[in-house]
Amino acid sequence: MKKILFVCLGNICRSPAAEGIMKHKVQEQGLADSFYIDSAGLHGFHEGELPDHRMRSHTLRRGYKLTSRSRPVEYGDFRKFDLIIGMDESNINNLKRMAPNLESQQKIHRMTDFCRHHPDNHVPDPYYGGASGFEHVLDLLEDACEGLLEELK
Ligand code: 4NP
Repeated sequence: MKKILFVCLGNICRSPAAEGIMKHKVQEQGLADSFYIDSAGLHGFHEGELPDHRMRSHTLRRGYKLTSRSRPVEYGDFRKFDLIIGMDESNINNLKRMAPNLESQQKIHRMTDFCRHHPDNHVPDPYYGGASGFEHVLDLLEDACEGLLEELK
């Protein structure tokens, strides 16, 4: 079983959307039993909350229902998960600082490195922007989840 943790800053926009999209795609391909998928944030300001209502409505329009609750990254995550995937440079740097050893550091990846159709080098934070920002995030996340799944299959 592959265990994947998606990480962003607040765990209410990008990483819960990545979690919902990836879960949907593995289910669609009959691979749900081969994956354990979760998400977390680098700070706990929104701990216990559902994803941001804007992200929930944008994802729902594409057929994904987000039900996760925000939680901060824990040290145990570096042992538990095989892949820890951050959304931007700041996420990656903070994860690398938190990683307890070299083996855990090597589990850290950048979401956009799995994109096949977008040249972007990060998934931008949509929190303070408008609807087009959320749509752009979802375009990137769908592309990256498809690329990631192909790589892991
Ligand atoms: P996320 O977006 O990292 O994609 O969940 C954000 C959510 C909340 C905040 C920042 C980014 N915030 O500052 O509260």
